[in-house]
Parts: sequence; C-alpha cells; structure tokens
Amino acid sequence: MQLIVNGTPHEVDVEDDMPLLWVLRDVLGIHGPKYGCGIAQCGACTVHVAGVAVRSCSLPVGAVDGPVTTIEGLGTPAALHAVQAAWVAHQVAQCGYCQSGQIMQAASLLAETPDPTDADIDAAMEGNLCRCGTYPRIRAAVKTAAATLRTGG
Ligand code: FES
Ligand code: FES
Repeated sequence: MQLIVNGTPHEVDVEDDMPLLWVLRDVLGIHGPKYGCGIAQCGACTVHVAGVAVRSCSLPVGAVDGPVTTIEGLGTPAALHAVQAAWVAHQVAQCGYCQSGQIMQAASLLAETPDPTDADIDAAMEGNLCRCGTYPRIRAAVKTAAATLRTGG
C-alpha cells in the first residue's frame, strides 16, 4: 500500500492491521513517534493524519485515510513550527519521551482552536501523559504558540 509520510510517498508491504506506529518506526525508520502504552492511553505515539492528531499505536495502517505527519515533518531545524519554537522557549522537555506526542497534539489543537482557553488546552492535552510532570510548561507553551500563530508567525 502507499503511505504519504511527511510529504514523501512510500510503498509499504505490510498487513493492513499493522498499527501505524509499527510501520513508521520499524518499516520506515521514523522514530519521533514513541511507543508508550500501545493501547491509546498515553499519547506518546501521537501523529497527524490529514492534520488531525491520532494515536498511531492503535490505528491500523489500512485505516489511514490521508497524509501522515510526524514530529519530523512538523517543522525543520531552520524553520521550527510555532509549537516547537514555543516548546524551546519554555524549555518544556524534561526526559523528552512524551514530548513529540505532546507537540503533535498541541499543533492539532491550535489548527482547530486558534485561541484556546485553559479548559480547551486541558481537554485537548489530558490524554497525553507526562511522567516528568511538565504540564504547567506545556500549558504556557501552548498559549505562546497560539499567540504566535494568531499573529501570523
Ligand atoms: S503508545 Fe499510543 S497512546 Fe500510548
Ligand atoms: S518529559 Fe519525561 S515523560 Fe514527559
């Protein structure tokens, strides 16, 4: 089957029921999305399909119905996405394991809700767990990114 990941088409010879996360990591060698729980409960594996955040550990690749974006395709080192830039500015990451999923979830939130309230942020991010407890910095960084995006940054 064909899968478009970060703008590049790939032909992958896999079973339809293989989770997208396995295809990304083990077949395509894209390691930004992380394996945490494997049952759609932690958010470490979050990527976008057609711009919407999904749990790639629990999405069969045969059900993918649009282009896939991982943290590797969200921005570039020279041109970070506003969410990535805000994460750097707020020094959000601690161990970092959950953070690609956090960033992808936040980017999806801001694409839908450009001026989120605290409640919007909490509702969108509550399924993304962080064992290091970076939640206050995540909330602050989401607000910074939202302000940047609203002003065209
Ligand atoms: S690894 Fe996918 S939600 Fe935890
Ligand atoms: S930064 Fe360590 S789990 Fe979130």
